[in-house]
Amino acid sequence: MALLSVEHLTRHFPLGRSLGAALRRLPRGWIKPVEDVSFGIGEGEILGIVGESGCGKSTTCNLLAKLDEPTGGTIHFDGADVTTLSPAELKRYRTHVQMIFQDPFDSLNPRLRAFDLVAEAPRALGLWDEAEIARRVPEMLALVGLPPERYAQRYPHQMSGGERQRVGIASALIAEPRLVIADEPVSMLDVSIRAGVMDLLRELSKRMNFSCLYVSHDLSILTHLCDRVMVMYLGQLVEIATSHDLVNDPRHPYTRALVAAVPVPDPAHRRPAVEIKGELAKPVNPPPGCRFAPRCNLAMPACSTTPAMLTVGDGHTVACHAVAATAGATAR
Ligand SMILES: Nc1ncnc2c1ncn2[C@@H]1O[C@H](COP(=O)(O)OP(=O)(O)OP(=O)(O)O)[C@@H](O)[C@H]1O
Ligand SMILES: [Mg+2]
Repeated sequence: MALLSVEHLTRHFPLGRSLGAALRRLPRGWIKPVEDVSFGIGEGEILGIVGESGCGKSTTCNLLAKLDEPTGGTIHFDGADVTTLSPAELKRYRTHVQMIFQDPFDSLNPRLRAFDLVAEAPRALGLWDEAEIARRVPEMLALVGLPPERYAQRYPHQMSGGERQRVGIASALIAEPRLVIADEPVSMLDVSIRAGVMDLLRELSKRMNFSCLYVSHDLSILTHLCDRVMVMYLGQLVEIATSHDLVNDPRHPYTRALVAAVPVPDPAHRRPAVEIKGELAKPVNPPPGCRFAPRCNLAMPACSTTPAMLTVGDGHTVACHAVAATAGATAR
């Protein structure tokens, strides 16, 4: 059984209306950044989400972390429905599911030292007494590569971006979560230190045996780090596969374009470029059907209806009418 199971997850936000539009009773518009998204995360698995800016990655993370509530669909964690948790169960969920944020400067309280930043969650959740916290926090700082004798008393402004993000990781991991949601945790960091922070997260996920949902708009980062990757386009899940299959056998036209754009280190081996026409749209009042269709070279009349997720290989599913029309695919 998957640790986390998401079915038909949907989030719509009402668009603000001017007073004039409200008085004239013009219909309200909607932003639809997450539309009917279904996936699961296994125990100890690292699942990546990739997609362009505004495609709903952070909104999905916020729903899973219960920082926001869905418009529709269900989230099950360890078999329990997350939308109907009692206060005691919600507290347990907040211990089991932790988030690492994009901006380590913004997400850390500037008035707290590293020790107290890492101790913040266990204190708020009432997990341990101060003696236990005094034992665990230095251990955790050491585990993320920050020797406590040098770092425990430092404020965020006395650390580099990479060190601050390591404090962010320590804060997320101190309560021994079962799922870590990392929303672009290295995108604000210098390129030279990104790999170190990612490798640390991967190593710790194996050692502490937590699952991870890792968001990035950089496919090459995800395929290096993740067991499986899901691709989102304007709020819709378009393809999900193992990192290997996604890179070597992408099926959705959008995934093909993403893969084609990833640089290959061997100059003798060039991937053919795949063009996407048009500009990136926003998920504002999207018409029904496949949201990639207006930019897709393979678009056909059927694309005005939403394609079902089709299984095209072991653990490999794709939502595309053109793929369904050509492949011997089987419906999920
Ligand atoms: N609270 C909100 N109210 C209204 N619209 C919102 C809200 N939160 C997100 N949106 C809109 O939903 C869309 C998706 O936003 P989201 O932050 O999930 O994208 P993202 O994939 O994380 O993008 P990025 O790569 O830039 O971080 C955007 O168009 C955004 O403006
Ligand atoms: Mg985001």
